[in-house]
Amino acid sequence: MSSIDVVIMAAGKGTRMKSRLPKVLHRLAGRALLAHVMDSVKPLAARKLVFITGNGADEVEAAVTGWAHAAGLQTVAFARQEPQLGTGHAVQQAVPQLPDDGTTLILNGDVPLIQPGTLQSLVDACDGKHLALLTVDMPDPTGYGRILRKGEAVQAIVEHKDASAVQREIHEVYTGFMAVPSAMLKRWLGQLTNDNAQGEYYLTDIVGMAVHDGAGVVAVKAADKVEVDGVNSPLQLAELERAYQLRKARAMMEAGVRIADPARFDVRGSLDCAQDVEIDVNCIFEGSVTLGEGVRIGANCVIANATIGAGTRIHPFTHIDGESAGVAIGAGALIGPFARLRPGANLAADVHIGNFVEIKNATMGQGSKANHLAYIGDSTVGERVNYGAGSITANYDGANKRQTVIEDDVHIGSNCVLVAPVRIGRGGTVGGGSTITKDTEPGTLSVARGKQVSISNWKRPTKPPKPS
Ligand code: UD1
Ligand code: CA
Repeated sequence: MSSIDVVIMAAGKGTRMKSRLPKVLHRLAGRALLAHVMDSVKPLAARKLVFITGNGADEVEAAVTGWAHAAGLQTVAFARQEPQLGTGHAVQQAVPQLPDDGTTLILNGDVPLIQPGTLQSLVDACDGKHLALLTVDMPDPTGYGRILRKGEAVQAIVEHKDASAVQREIHEVYTGFMAVPSAMLKRWLGQLTNDNAQGEYYLTDIVGMAVHDGAGVVAVKAADKVEVDGVNSPLQLAELERAYQLRKARAMMEAGVRIADPARFDVRGSLDCAQDVEIDVNCIFEGSVTLGEGVRIGANCVIANATIGAGTRIHPFTHIDGESAGVAIGAGALIGPFARLRPGANLAADVHIGNFVEIKNATMGQGSKANHLAYIGDSTVGERVNYGAGSITANYDGANKRQTVIEDDVHIGSNCVLVAPVRIGRGGTVGGGSTITKDTEPGTLSVARGKQVSISNWKRPTKPPKPS
């Protein structure tokens, strides 16, 4: 088996996206199209990945370099194509980086759902000596290169714009993926001309040359059209996004996850579910999310980078975003509706977080509750704490973030301000409306507010009578 060197075409303009962002950097399922292509290539353990860049080259190369670094890939290279004179001209730019002894696998950077298994079968069909093309039957083949056959044998590819009326009736088209022995590829690329309807150097012209040289051309048919669909417009991007999400939802449902409506379900990253998980409509999962056994997610929740323990219920309209610090929720917790959990929220089992409560960089011990309208930030909250409505930790003095510690069994009344750094001793109570600036001793009641004054026989001002 010869080594695989991969060429990924990413120099095109993507005019129909009508965007400043290079086409291959547009995102599907939260990840750039080109990053999806890189993911699909990974299992092939290629010797080298050469990206053809042109439009937005600086931006594209910076992005690829970043992903390669994150994935520990040291085999990434670039070849700039300026100006862009066609797909054959594009691959010509990579030639100096392709050793003669290998097989070159050519991919399109804007076809994100290609599967590793399909790429492998293309390489297998090439077998170090043939030209292997990935083809597909398109209901509407307009715009694509048609596969010309004599009997079963592939003879050539004719581009749509160069095709005769009879050839345009052919539905089998070239997908943009091929595997070819590198030495042969180089020879054929050297013979390309731009004598065609578009004045471009067509990569697809090498098929006729391979037939002429008796190299043997093998066509591998893609099983699933979605796998070879490219993105040219915002509409096609959205269609592929839905196809991807439906695929994901189906796989999860086959594994037993109960998704209320697979058409209203989005995973932009990885979602791991234990048994008996239920997910209501319009939920979005981002980054890395893990749901324990029996977790139920209400409608319209956005959950990113979080681990949620068994039996926990997330009520509708909850927003959880762990970013890099993560959010962890223990078993049997009740969260929301309308709760907001931010990075570093670490909630033990049986915690209750209610509506309009925000938690950031804070741990809460087992059974603690903040049920309404509250903020807890940069805090350590013990077990069985009750945190009243409208109370906040004042954790920021304008320059520094300060810590609040609330020990076990504390009861914080409503509308309190805990001015950090401050510690509320075990079992203590803070009276409603208090502004606490000093540590409190365990078991004490602390009240820090203006004393109530009641004036008897006080007359409220009255409006003068209206003139009649
Ligand atoms: C090409 C094929 C066509 C096939 C179709 C599948 C040729 C001549 N035709 O069509 O048979 O059915 O793909 O999608 O190859 N690119 C460059 N530099 C260039 C031109 C293109 O890097 O100079 C890149 C584009 O960014 C894109 C890919 O090559 O990723 C394909 O280009 P595109 O213009 O979409 O394909 P066509 O040439 O229309
Ligand atoms: Ca083109």
